[in-house]
Amino acid sequence: MSSSVTRILFVCLGNICRSPTAEAVMRQLVEMEGLSKRFELDSAGTAAYHIGKQPDRRTQAAARERDIEMSTLKARQAIAEDFHQFDYILAMDKENLANLKAIQPEGAKARLQLLLSDYGTMGYQEVPDPYYGGPEGFELVLDLLEDACAGLLQALKTGK
Ligand code: 4NP
Repeated sequence: MSSSVTRILFVCLGNICRSPTAEAVMRQLVEMEGLSKRFELDSAGTAAYHIGKQPDRRTQAAARERDIEMSTLKARQAIAEDFHQFDYILAMDKENLANLKAIQPEGAKARLQLLLSDYGTMGYQEVPDPYYGGPEGFELVLDLLEDACAGLLQALKTGK
């Protein structure tokens, strides 16, 4: 990993469940490794429904059980300018990826990737949307994101 700052944006649909969880999980990991100054982390949604809102209360409750605090996060929508600001834009599912490709400006620096297929090890390509399901969906989101964010950090540290 170079000594400069790596900027990572995690993206889902609403920016109230999956992508803020990814941001918070990754922040916890880099803090544990003493690498906070080397990363700028953010999250956004492809949809506008929840702009300005805190993460879903079920998302916050599940995260808090793992000592991950998310109450300071606020939803925003992904914009074309994000492709100039971030080094990595990591989508939670294929629909988010397609929506991001639709706003991707030509010549922008960000690497646009599907988080799980590039960095996860649990056999999932996508983070399933937990919004309309039961509590087990929020646990699965956390399990998948803890695994993939560890893989992402390892890949960045080893320069892949
Ligand atoms: P997220 O979950 O994309 O993980 O934040 C959702 C949140 C809200 C909705 C769908 C998914 N919604 O339809 O309002």
